[in-house]
Amino acid sequence: MELEDYGKLTNAELGERLSRLKREKNAVILGHNYQIEDVQLVADHLGDSLRLAQLAAETDADVIVLCGVDFMAESAKILNPSKRVFLPNEQATCPMAAMVTPEELTGFKSKHPGAAVVSYVNTSAAVKAVSDVCCTSSNAVEVVRGVEEDEIIFVPDRNLAAYAASKTDKKIIPWDGYCYVHDNFVAEDVELARGEHPGVPIVVHPESPPEVVESADYVASTSGMVKLGAEHDELIVGTEVGLIERMNREFPEKSFYPLSAFAICRTMKLTDLPRVVWALENEEHEIDIPEDIRSRAEGALQRMLEFVG
Ligand code: 13P
Ligand code: SF4
Repeated sequence: MELEDYGKLTNAELGERLSRLKREKNAVILGHNYQIEDVQLVADHLGDSLRLAQLAAETDADVIVLCGVDFMAESAKILNPSKRVFLPNEQATCPMAAMVTPEELTGFKSKHPGAAVVSYVNTSAAVKAVSDVCCTSSNAVEVVRGVEEDEIIFVPDRNLAAYAASKTDKKIIPWDGYCYVHDNFVAEDVELARGEHPGVPIVVHPESPPEVVESADYVASTSGMVKLGAEHDELIVGTEVGLIERMNREFPEKSFYPLSAFAICRTMKLTDLPRVVWALENEEHEIDIPEDIRSRAEGALQRMLEFVG
């Protein structure tokens, strides 16, 4: 069946087909918190980047369908190479991850010979392979504090680098990358939201600019935000709006407000339910990483998991 034919099926038909395929292929569907609701609903597990990496590393399934963006599927393959990993849409890439190449990073490292390289998981496998340790938004501060070196090259997110720098005494040398979704938040968004929802706490993602982070009440990864949702009756949420769909579903009696309704990651929305079923049935698009890159990237990811997993 062609991809377009899957689009002609109802969600119920697609759901049944997916359940059968999952059984036949011993597959697990992992979904990031920013996925569209139809995909969130069929995921066996939803999570932030750290949780998805942990789940991929631990799974007994033979096949992982990673509904998110490219670096997440790559991390799954890096950590569990005997599994087959599929990313339903090859176009689902993270623009921030493309802001640093291994060649650029290697050149930069040679100018700072004493520095350790901490790379955000939002990087390619090849960049991880030339890094000392990875981090996610939920453990960046602990990773930076934990590495031996006092000087750290932090790639690629300048905002997460600034946040980690504000929480440690280390000298952080940031790369000039950013996530366009979070970098677009401005301090006025926080002021406006406080005006509209007086007394309601604000949580923002650490990919946001420093002035936004400083004016918020909490800073958290997407799964950290879900935990905060459990603790508050109302919350202003400064991240990609897909997360709010998950929070509304899990806590229907509570009220969550987006810091900006325009915070949409276009590539996170490129995976829909027909595509997930098509991907599993047709085994598309398989992640394949050359072993020398994979094994070196695994070192950086495993160091993170052992350290602050
Ligand atoms: P987390 O879900 O790990 O917080 O990351 C957010 C993000 O931007 C992923 O691309
Ligand atoms: Fe990349 Fe930002 Fe989209 Fe996450 S939200 S995938 S960091 S562009």
